[in-house]
Amino acid sequence: MVKCRYCGGTGLIMKGNKAVRCSCIKEKLLENAYNQSGLTPLMRDYTFDNFDFKYYSSEKIDKVKGISYAQTAQITFKAAKEFVEKFLQDKHTEGLLFTGPVGSGKTFLACAIANEVIKNGKQVLFVVVPDLLDKIKSTYDNQDRELTEQNVIEAAREVPLLILDDLGVHNYTEWTKNKLYSIINYRLNYQLPTIITTNLSVAELSEHLGERTASRLFQMCKFYRLLVDNNIRYIKRLERK
Ligand SMILES: Nc1ncnc2c1ncn2[C@@H]1O[C@H](COP(=O)(O)OP(=O)(O)OP(=O)(O)O)[C@@H](O)[C@H]1O
Ligand SMILES: [Mg+2]
Ligand SMILES: [Zn+2]
Repeated sequence: MVKCRYCGGTGLIMKGNKAVRCSCIKEKLLENAYNQSGLTPLMRDYTFDNFDFKYYSSEKIDKVKGISYAQTAQITFKAAKEFVEKFLQDKHTEGLLFTGPVGSGKTFLACAIANEVIKNGKQVLFVVVPDLLDKIKSTYDNQDRELTEQNVIEAAREVPLLILDDLGVHNYTEWTKNKLYSIINYRLNYQLPTIITTNLSVAELSEHLGERTASRLFQMCKFYRLLVDNNIRYIKRLERK
């Protein structure tokens, strides 16, 4: 370890006759926050600044709302930015749910929220729902005292901002429904915001998660759509060629 050349590793520097935190501490805290967040290195580039509107057609019309895909994206993007502003002022801000087809930028936008919140010193946990459920299951036959079912579930329940990515691509058994219900219900009761991405429609959410969980999601999240003509993942691959 190289010692910081400003503070010599103490974490404090003198400004006049006052001791203040050295910037190296801020960097370490930020690094820790990232490591605990569950965001992958790739996802650190999913930021509001990097969100490109060119993928959302201004000709194609969202039949439900009668506005273009481009307008839909603008509305959803704005809601994401406003969420961050509000959340930084009030930890009990209402959450968001992004629906839309495969490769429409739902995870990208959820990560943009996460990145902005982390940069502002707040704790975020990003989990892919099927992975979370697998992790809970894996605690049943492991010897690791740190990784217990209770620890995994508590982390998701109590974190100031939870991101549930890919809700709905799992096979929902009574067991998985109950685990999700217990996390979502806790966050509703403590008014802790959750950002959700899903491919499921409103009706499908209810069908797959059960009415008790779905109705709680309605209560705690505002719903937004992202619509695309073509999977952005696919377009980006063509762009690279
Ligand atoms: N607005 C955007 N600007 C730039 N890149 C984008 C944008 N939206 C998505 N992408 C890129 O397209 C790919 C797919 O996006 P993303 O993972 O957010 O889709 P998704 O809607 O979550 O899809 P899925 O339903 O399969 O989970 C990613 O590689 C992402 O970087
Ligand atoms: Mg996704
Ligand atoms: Zn330092």
